[in-house]
Amino acid sequence: MPMILAANANAQGSHVGEWRHPEAWDRPASNIDNAVRLARIAEGGGFDLLFLADGNGVRNMDKPDLFAATSPSDRPGVFEPVTLLSALAMVTRHIGLVATTTTTYDEPYAVARRFASLDHISGGRAGWNLVTTSNPGDALNFSHDAHVARDDRYERAFEFASIVKGLWDSWADDAFPQDKATGRFLDPSRVRALNHVGKHFRVAGPLNAPRPPQGHPVVFSAGQSETGKELSACHADCVFAIEGTIERARVLYADLKGRLAKHGRSRDSLKILSGVTIIVGETAAEAQRLSDELDALVPMPVAVDYLSKMVGTKMQAYPLDGPFPDLSAEHVGPTGIGHAILAKALERKMTVRQAARSILPQMAGNLFQGSAMEVADQMEQWYRQEACDGFMIAAPAVPAGLERFVRLVVPELRRRGLIRERYEGRTLRDNLGLPRPANPHFPAAAHAAE
Ligand SMILES: Cc1cc2nc3c(=O)[nH]c(=O)nc-3n(C[C@H](O)[C@H](O)[C@H](O)COP(=O)(O)O)c2cc1C
Repeated sequence: MPMILAANANAQGSHVGEWRHPEAWDRPASNIDNAVRLARIAEGGGFDLLFLADGNGVRNMDKPDLFAATSPSDRPGVFEPVTLLSALAMVTRHIGLVATTTTTYDEPYAVARRFASLDHISGGRAGWNLVTTSNPGDALNFSHDAHVARDDRYERAFEFASIVKGLWDSWADDAFPQDKATGRFLDPSRVRALNHVGKHFRVAGPLNAPRPPQGHPVVFSAGQSETGKELSACHADCVFAIEGTIERARVLYADLKGRLAKHGRSRDSLKILSGVTIIVGETAAEAQRLSDELDALVPMPVAVDYLSKMVGTKMQAYPLDGPFPDLSAEHVGPTGIGHAILAKALERKMTVRQAARSILPQMAGNLFQGSAMEVADQMEQWYRQEACDGFMIAAPAVPAGLERFVRLVVPELRRRGLIRERYEGRTLRDNLGLPRPANPHFPAAAHAAE
């Protein structure tokens, strides 16, 4: 199976200072022209999919420096992701379209319907990144007084995912003959209500959409706690993982793959994509220059605010040039990313300033930088040493950084036989090497609908 390439589709990029760089496009907030161009660059480079992280709220109003400067993961001015990907479906033909939607502040029927629609609109290229919401403040936009407790979030997520999949299986693949001659639009014997009654949800079904072209749109998840990993092993086709070092990524990879057997799944049925920021130049010196330029665009107070956000602790309380404090006994940030940052800062004996600088490219500071050869070497090493099955790539500054990746690194990966020459499959599942799930209720029609 070739290495999987996913592109971070946030047009504001990844590096905290990126939007200010002369190579970055102007006015990136909710800009459809930029999004279209980014999608075309990624498809031109043979990327398997575009990926949109998401949240449902404005963050960091308590951190004035960071709030004004904004970091790309704060997303105060972005499109609702499924809406955006539906538009991008019409201007692309091959690339997968993966959007993040929360199981904590949404409803399974609405989510099943949205992603079934995206799968039909795109001809089988949709993916759902299932998250339980990292930003506690989002709760206040959904009639809650506080973030739903962690255990409840995950309990809800398990139930939510099985309902969504059940709804996608509402109809047999051949349930809509739409035969003008006989007058049968649909076949009433080829539909099944779900009638789900559980702890968190009651959903009758069936879904008001034909079975998606992929059977089930590809399910991603992104959570690195014990329960988060179990959720992935049980329900996900792909995991978006973030670790700051290859050693830790290998441990996570072995852990996730090792959980599959007890769910009756093969190791190949779950693909693990490691988040990485890639800064490539014609030469290593050019890449270093770009990296320095990007870092220089982030004033230190903004960098420290960003570090505080990521590790969930006010880092202004610690001397900038003192050792990074061991926060492992405290609550570390809202996501596994906080743990990855902390682990790397302690292992590498960083100061607070060094840690703040090291994570400016995001992805927990997992940065591959250099010439095309050097970047390809690092990608190949992670891939061959079972640290990942592919990468979730941010390439500052977009669009120039992504174009450089496509122009310089993609041909080198092809030369090494690590990625395929062209799109081979029709659907995202095909391109990722994931089988189309059979419909357990209508086994006779388990083959793909045409
Ligand atoms: C790599 C990664 C990416 C994530 N992306 C998002 C996101 O886009 N939106 C969101 O609300 N939560 C996101 N999360 C948060 C998770 O869904 C989850 O709520 C959080 O990680 C807490 O669970 P955990 O302790 O299992 O990691 C992400 C987590 C990780 C590790």
